[in-house]
Amino acid sequence: MAVLHLCTLKTGKILAPLVVVLYLLQLLINCYISQVIWSGKNYKKIPEPLIILVWHWPFHGNSTLREDACPDLYDVANCILTHNRSMFDRADVVVFHHRELQVKSSSLPQLARPPNQKWLWVSLESPTNTKRIHPFNGHFNWTMTYRTDSDIFIPYGTLLPRKQSDQVTNFLMPRKSHLSTWVVSNYHKNSLRAKVHANLSRHMPIDVFGRAAGKFLPSEMLLPTISRYAFYMAFENSIHTDYITEKLWRNAFMAGSIPVVLGPPRANYERFVPPDSFIHVNDFASKKELARFLMDLRENSTRYEQYFNWRKKFVVKLNTNWTERFCSICTNFYSLPPSKVYHNLHDWFHQ
Ligand SMILES: *[C@@H]1O[C@H](CO)[C@@H](O)[C@H](O)[C@H]1NC(C)=O
Ligand SMILES: *[C@@H]1O[C@H](CO)[C@@H](O)[C@H](O)[C@H]1NC(C)=O
Ligand SMILES: *[C@@H]1O[C@H](CO)[C@@H](O)[C@H](O)[C@H]1NC(C)=O
Ligand SMILES: *[C@@H]1O[C@H](CO)[C@@H](O)[C@H](O)[C@H]1NC(C)=O
Ligand SMILES: *[C@@H]1O[C@H](CO)[C@@H](O)[C@H](O)[C@H]1NC(C)=O
Ligand SMILES: *[C@@H]1O[C@H](CO)[C@@H](O)[C@H](O)[C@H]1NC(C)=O
Repeated sequence: MAVLHLCTLKTGKILAPLVVVLYLLQLLINCYISQVIWSGKNYKKIPEPLIILVWHWPFHGNSTLREDACPDLYDVANCILTHNRSMFDRADVVVFHHRELQVKSSSLPQLARPPNQKWLWVSLESPTNTKRIHPFNGHFNWTMTYRTDSDIFIPYGTLLPRKQSDQVTNFLMPRKSHLSTWVVSNYHKNSLRAKVHANLSRHMPIDVFGRAAGKFLPSEMLLPTISRYAFYMAFENSIHTDYITEKLWRNAFMAGSIPVVLGPPRANYERFVPPDSFIHVNDFASKKELARFLMDLRENSTRYEQYFNWRKKFVVKLNTNWTERFCSICTNFYSLPPSKVYHNLHDWFHQ
């Protein structure tokens, strides 16, 4: 009615009240912007901390978890990490680790989901070793995996630029008394990696450790043992894009042994590590050629040591701490898609 009334008036008469109305409107909008837009896409005011609820701590690990772990241990402010399920209604993100869903020691909450709460699917296993994803299609908003196309990317390790101040702790190549080794916990003789090992070992000695070989290595002996070897067989249990695990990062890199990798193609490795930091099985037409190459390389220390040049520029950071990974949810939160659903989590993960 008011609009109709205004329209019947002459232009000059309506201009003054219109200016006043527009001015007030602008004040209101400004006020709204400063309160809401400034504080991020997800309409959360800055001083209010994000609440990350871990529904089930991975691998039944212990949660001697303090709510202030993120600010205290990892300098991630405004971030409450909890496993207290009573916090469900207040949580911004609820985290589900697939392993426990797969073995049914945990299930999704049957509670009404608060509007805007995100459910995050977490896994570090490859599709080959992941079962029972179908029941979870359409439930999750975000993913956190070893894959770079996850909403939150959690690689097994990272290279950090070596700072000038790290020069004192320059990398020293461990003394090499043996040729090559492989540590394997799950040995299946029909797997690709077992076949590659069998072929390669016909042309060169490879010392195998692990239960299957009857030579169990306690964890504190793992790196000291590998470090004595010139080469480490960093063979992945299955071949998938970005699936580059602790076999490269911990067993080879942390031990200071040159990794001989079996996994995704060379180009995929080169997205994360320098081309001269590893030797790729696929670079050789036969296992005999690969064996010849490795044995020759070991004999020429000039060439051998070239595979350690990158250590002058980078240091290896191993990512193993679930608390640290979960704190990174807060770091990433405001840059993640505010509305998203994995309608077909299974197909996304298997693509
Ligand atoms: C978990 O914590 C409980 C006490 O809260 C302790 O008894 C138990 O040994 C811990 N388990 C592990 C695997 O650390
Ligand atoms: C869990 O959270 C609820 C609600 O905030 C609180 O009352 C309770 O004390 C918490 N329990 C523990 C073990 O921290
Ligand atoms: C192993 O060697 C055999 C015989 O030379 C060959 O046919 C096979 O393709 C090789 N397999 C692998 C995985 O290297
Ligand atoms: C070792 O490798 C370097 C660089 O490729 C080469 O110049 C040198 O001749 C090699 N030494 C021996 C003993 O083969
Ligand atoms: C890993 O996480 C725990 C908490 O779960 C923390 O107490 C510990 O200091 C962390 N370890 C490292 C190396 O940061
Ligand atoms: C999160 O996923 C649920 C389940 O599919 C969906 O109902 C909800 O709208 C999603 N939330 C957002 C903010 O995208």
